[in-house]
Amino acid sequence: MTKVAIVTGGTRGIGEAISLALKKMGYVVAANYAGNDEKARAFSERTGIDSFRWDVGDHQACLDGCAAVADRLGSVDIVVNNAGITRDGVLAKMSFDDWNEVMRINLGGCFNMAKATFDGMRQRGWGRFVNIGSVNGQAGQYGQVNYAAAKSGIHGFTKALAQEGAKYGITVNAIAPGYVDTDMVAAVPAQVLEKIVAKIPVGRLGHAGEIARGVAFLCSEEAGFVTGSTMSINGGQHMY
Ligand SMILES: NC(=O)c1ccc[n+]([C@@H]2O[C@H](COP(=O)([O-])OP(=O)(O)OC[C@H]3O[C@@H](n4cnc5c(N)ncnc54)[C@H](OP(=O)(O)O)[C@@H]3O)[C@@H](O)[C@H]2O)c1
Repeated sequence: MTKVAIVTGGTRGIGEAISLALKKMGYVVAANYAGNDEKARAFSERTGIDSFRWDVGDHQACLDGCAAVADRLGSVDIVVNNAGITRDGVLAKMSFDDWNEVMRINLGGCFNMAKATFDGMRQRGWGRFVNIGSVNGQAGQYGQVNYAAAKSGIHGFTKALAQEGAKYGITVNAIAPGYVDTDMVAAVPAQVLEKIVAKIPVGRLGHAGEIARGVAFLCSEEAGFVTGSTMSINGGQHMY
């Protein structure tokens, strides 16, 4: 049976590239998004991939959204937790809402999506989770205590769930991208971005397709022995 994949935040940026890469592998893909209907409609028309709107930070919305995907496309075998936001600022200027919203969506979304889909994968004896972390979750970043904490949490979440899934044929891995040329990075002031690129050994930003290639491998049948790992795709910016 053809496997079904959900990519959260799958209608633009890195998520769009992931949706396309998984479709190319022969999977049936559902692309989730938060609210940009115009981009989602254009994406679906362009790619033939169904898009589904819900907030991954909302627990019940994830349960309902995943049920809707399963009704339309079939049982969910693969989840790529890619949806993420930034609300940057130094601690002194960061509001509780900035902290909470980033934790709720970036980290809470992984929990909500796993709650909605893990049990079905366990019953069918096969599953793949790929959680998109960040180099800033590994190394920290000035002005991002919320984002770095949430992304670092994703790496811990990945290793813990990998231990629960292993005996059921479910692998759980993370990818930690460096700076990639999407709308999220376009929001970084030019002079700050220039300094960041100067510290990337390969001397450029990454491309969404380069992250998607890593996700595609981790979602493949051949990656069944890879679990609990974090793949860094960052142009050499951070190595350990
Ligand atoms: N770009 C980078 O340099 C970089 C580096 C490291 C890690 N990452 C991570 O990679 C992931 C993708 O980043 P990106 O740069 O492609 O982001 P992006 O261009 O800003 O796109 C974000 C996507 O996530 C969706 N989204 C946001 N909040 C959501 C929510 N509450 N529920 C469901 N979907 C939601 C958006 O939907 P709408 O279109 O409806 O808004 C959009 O599809 C993020 O987790 C990010 O933290 C990015």
